[in-house]
Amino acid sequence: MKERNIPAAVPAGRPALILAIETSCDETSVAVIEDGVTIRSNVVSSQVETHRKFGGVVPEVASRQHVETITLIMEEAVEQAGIALRDLSAVAVTQGPGLIGALLVGVVAAKALAYSLQVPLIGVHHIAGHIYANALVHKLEYPLLALVVSGGHTELVHMEAEGSFRIIGRTRDDAAGEAYDKVARALELPYPGGPHIDRLAQEAAEALPLPRAWLEPDSYDFSFSGLKSAVLAALNSARMKGSPLDPAAVARGFQESVVDVVTGKALRAARELGVKQLLLAGGVAANRGLREALVRQCAEAGLPLIVPPMSLCTDNAAMIGAAAHLMWTRGQYSPLELKAESALSLENWSPASR
Ligand code: KG4
Ligand code: ZN
Repeated sequence: MKERNIPAAVPAGRPALILAIETSCDETSVAVIEDGVTIRSNVVSSQVETHRKFGGVVPEVASRQHVETITLIMEEAVEQAGIALRDLSAVAVTQGPGLIGALLVGVVAAKALAYSLQVPLIGVHHIAGHIYANALVHKLEYPLLALVVSGGHTELVHMEAEGSFRIIGRTRDDAAGEAYDKVARALELPYPGGPHIDRLAQEAAEALPLPRAWLEPDSYDFSFSGLKSAVLAALNSARMKGSPLDPAAVARGFQESVVDVVTGKALRAARELGVKQLLLAGGVAANRGLREALVRQCAEAGLPLIVPPMSLCTDNAAMIGAAAHLMWTRGQYSPLELKAESALSLENWSPASR
C-alpha cells in the first residue's frame, strides 16, 4: 500500500473537523464534529421500519441496507455541515462491538475516505462513543462513573481519567435494552419495544409486583433474564386462568424492577468510588422512568448527574466523532489495516492504556 503522508495536527487557526461513521447495528449514521464539541451535522438513517416486521434486527438485512445508504448519508452529512471533503482533518468509524457485517460497511467506507483524502483514520469503540456523547453537551469531570444501558450492553464503567475505562460491573445475561425488547414482544408491542414499555409504564395506575435481581450484596453486576422469565410466567399463568394481565401494569412493574436495580447499583458504586459525576449513556438512557429516578436520587445524594439529550441516546455518529476527538488530540490514529471487531473490548481499546 502507498505510504501515507498524514499531517500531525490541524494547521493553527483551522478547526479540527472529524467525519464520523456509525454502522454497528441498525442505524446508518454519519456526522461532522468540530473541535470535539460542535455538531456540524449528524445524519441518522434508521432501519427500524425494515426490521420491525421480523421483530428484531436481521444482521444480513442490516448489512445490505448499510451498503445501500452509506454513500448517500455521507454526502448528506458533508452537505449539512457546510464543508468540503478537503476540509476534513480525520475520518472516524465505529470499529466494534456490533454486528460484524454491519461494522464492515462503515469501516470500509471510512478507510476509503481517509485514504483518498490522506487524513488519519480513527477506530472508535461503540460504548466509548455512547459515553462521550455526553461530552458534546457537558464538561466531563474525572473520576466519573458511567452507567451504560443499551440494546447490547449494561455496564458500570469507572473512568479515573479521560480515555480510561474500567468495567466494574456488567450484565451476566441480557442487556437492559434487550430485556425491554423481549418483554415488549411478549406484550405484543412493536420493535424496538423500549419506548413502548416506557410509555405504558407512565400511563399505568398500578404495577405488577416483580422480583429485583440484586445478586451478591457486593456485586455491581446485573442480570435481567430472571426478571424477563418472571414476566413471561406471570403472563402465561394469567392467560391460563382466563384473566389476562393489564399490559400497562406489567410494563410498570418491569420498568420499576429494572430502574430500582440499575439506579441502586450505580449510586452505591458512585458513593464507594467517590466519583465527581454520574453519567448516563446508551439507548435506554432515553427511558423517562430511569431519568426521573436518577435525577431524584442524585439530587438526594448531592451527586452531579450528566444525562445525554434524547437525540444522542440511541445510536448516532456524533457520539463516535466526540470519542474520536479524544484520540485525535492524542495523535492516536489507526492503521489502514484496521479490522472491524464484533466483540471489541472497551478496556483494551482505551486510549489511556496505549
Ligand atoms: O444504544 P442503542 O441505540 O443500540 C445499542 O447500542 O444497542 O440502544 C437501543 C436500545 C433498544 O433495546 C431500545 O428498546 C432501547 O435502547 N430504548 C429504550 C428506550 N428508547 C430506546 N429502552 C427503554 N426506554 C426507552 N425510552
Ligand atoms: Zn449503541
